[in-house]
Amino acid sequence: MFTLPQKESRAPATCPGPTSIQDLDSNSGDDLERECSRKPDRKLPEDCGASGPTAMLSSDSSCLSSRGRVIKWFWDSAEEGYRTYHMDEYDEDKNPSGIINLGTSENKLCFDLLSRRLSQSDMLRVEPSLLQYPDWRGHLFLREEVARFLSFYCKSPNPLKPDNVVVLNGCASLFSTLATVLCEAGEAFLIPAPYYGAITQHVYLYGNVRLVCVYLDSEVTGLDTRPFQLTVEKLEMALQRANSEGVKVKGLILINPHNPLGDIYSPGELRDYLEFAKRHELHVMVDEVYMLSVFEKPAAYRSVLSLEGLPDPQRTHVMWATSKDFGMSGLRFGTLYTENWDVATAVASLCRYHGLSGLVQYQMAQLLRDRDWINQVYLPENHARLKAAHAYVAGELRALGIPFLSRGAGFFIWVDLRKFLPEATFKAEMLLWRQFLDNKVLLSCGQTFECKEPGWFRLVFSDKAHRLRLGMQRVRQVLEGKSRVAEEPSSCQTQEPRSQRR
Ligand SMILES: Cc1ncc(COP(=O)(O)O)c(C=O)c1O
Repeated sequence: MFTLPQKESRAPATCPGPTSIQDLDSNSGDDLERECSRKPDRKLPEDCGASGPTAMLSSDSSCLSSRGRVIKWFWDSAEEGYRTYHMDEYDEDKNPSGIINLGTSENKLCFDLLSRRLSQSDMLRVEPSLLQYPDWRGHLFLREEVARFLSFYCKSPNPLKPDNVVVLNGCASLFSTLATVLCEAGEAFLIPAPYYGAITQHVYLYGNVRLVCVYLDSEVTGLDTRPFQLTVEKLEMALQRANSEGVKVKGLILINPHNPLGDIYSPGELRDYLEFAKRHELHVMVDEVYMLSVFEKPAAYRSVLSLEGLPDPQRTHVMWATSKDFGMSGLRFGTLYTENWDVATAVASLCRYHGLSGLVQYQMAQLLRDRDWINQVYLPENHARLKAAHAYVAGELRALGIPFLSRGAGFFIWVDLRKFLPEATFKAEMLLWRQFLDNKVLLSCGQTFECKEPGWFRLVFSDKAHRLRLGMQRVRQVLEGKSRVAEEPSSCQTQEPRSQRR
């Protein structure tokens, strides 16, 4: 039931993680270490020789605490694909046979627009207050700008308040800080799976907080209206199961638009999930990091902050960042909006370790305030480019006869490659993932998202045309080289925004 840190930290889901570690009854690093060695992932046995992974853990890291060793273990065993990619990155001129990265969820389509805007003279200001220790919640001028920005783009019924805003260096830190201030060590959050797998590490590495998966299926049955549909019934069941196993669940994580499914929740669904949380006195962390990356019918998207009368405002905490919507994952800017003053203050206190430099805060305020540029230049162009890139990859997949889910939001398509697996196992999924990597294209496989059905992959399309073309060519080579050994799965059809039943 519990998923523990997976093989990704900075880069989302670029290589398979260790199998889920289940039923931990203790939260010490030693227990985790023992678990790691009891359930070694594919890579460890070869590397460890007869002495096994525990020996490897301790022999080369004896200066570290047990926590440190576990953290290092995850780093060492993590991101194999991401690291391999960085050692052999594709470059059109310098390394044309290098790896194309269709695994990391980044938007590489608008660098020209961003670099022009961020290079303008109004972006640089150096004044004493920007070089001194700030208010750890973030400078007031930035929190005011963020409150205005979120009020406008989230369509909040009332203006959001700067005092309820905290700014820090990205959503990863928000998960980490919120988990730490909301949970005791060993407590848990519910999360619908598949999900952006790095959250496992974000909540665990400092906070020692676990995730309880609410597993979703591709098959549409009962009350489901689409594959991998989240329902209140599934939430209730997962919560009951956790309770019966003595796990204290403190909250629910919702990602909207969703990574990796690309789903967007309807206002009715959102309200149902929030009501469920209220009934059980659960906090809800709502990750809206892709909220402006809805490129098909953006009006259909509703931020949780747009809802009239949130069921439990004191337990609803919304996060957003510029990493995705502004294609700036390296800049590290994120923000929390919460009506709960205690939560905002506790997170702000941790911002001493997760804060932004004054100069970046100034730059971000300038960017967020420039509505003309955002509305008339950046967003229309970004959406048009996302749409074109998506259309290209979707067309390629159709030509290959590959089913996929895609809702017109985010940077990725959730691809069903089950028919290319000789057997329905994660081992087979990983072998296919490795074949892609050997053919110099990096994808993310379903296991990193805790998908319980082997054979799903996430394919990122928000890249330049020449890289996408080459990447898809390499994907095609691998798939065409394989015999289709399994029956075509019948449960899941290609679902695109127009056919969405909602
Ligand atoms: C759903 C989701 N939340 C959070 C993050 C991390 O965001 P940041 O780069 O702002 O830490 C990602 C990155 O892929 C993501 O997909």
